[in-house]
Amino acid sequence: MLFLDSSNPAEIRELFAWGVLGGVTTNPLILSREAKDAILEERMREVIAASHGPVSVELIAETEAEMLEEARAIHAWDPARICVKVPFGEAGLRVTHALAKAGVRTNVTCVMNFNQAYLAALAGGTYVSIFSGRIRDMGYDAREVIEQTRARFDRERLTAEVLVGSIRHIADVNEALFAGAHVVTVPPPILRKMLHNPKTDETIREFNAAWANRGK
Ligand code: E4P
Repeated sequence: MLFLDSSNPAEIRELFAWGVLGGVTTNPLILSREAKDAILEERMREVIAASHGPVSVELIAETEAEMLEEARAIHAWDPARICVKVPFGEAGLRVTHALAKAGVRTNVTCVMNFNQAYLAALAGGTYVSIFSGRIRDMGYDAREVIEQTRARFDRERLTAEVLVGSIRHIADVNEALFAGAHVVTVPPPILRKMLHNPKTDETIREFNAAWANRGK
């Protein structure tokens, strides 16, 4: 499955019309670029209206108590659609566990290795976000992390889904899917690039020209 990594309502609406997307992820960096003058709640309501499926909104608070308070407020915007994105860490695990017990969906984010992914799943995370591009920045093999995580989740029948983000190239999408990602969250420019192949364009032009010139 593919999600869109964006907080731009117009672009989200346009790309959801392709019929290939099943959710949206955002993060504070994306929002600081795309919605710097917007009120977060209003922007997220626009994102929800422009899409379908789960919409991840990340917590900014750093202490457990503040994170839980923020999570409850964000979740109340749309309990059926909001997925609370929880930064990985000790407080994050406690918050993930508490939200899971309360029936709130979570997306444990900024996960860079198998150990973290495993802890996030054991704590009750709904999605575990593995950051492909950033793992590669550190010199590690993102494919191996995704493969090992998915294999272990399956083996222990953990319900968490492997969500792969930090996608920089089309090849990253394919690699993540073949390695076992349940979901890949794709930035809009990468999704647009997935459309094109010069041979497809050439073939369509050839077919249309043949039809236009039939009988000549
Ligand atoms: C995933 O949910 C994140 O929003 C995102 O993919 C982070 O990737 P980055 O490395 O482009 O910041």
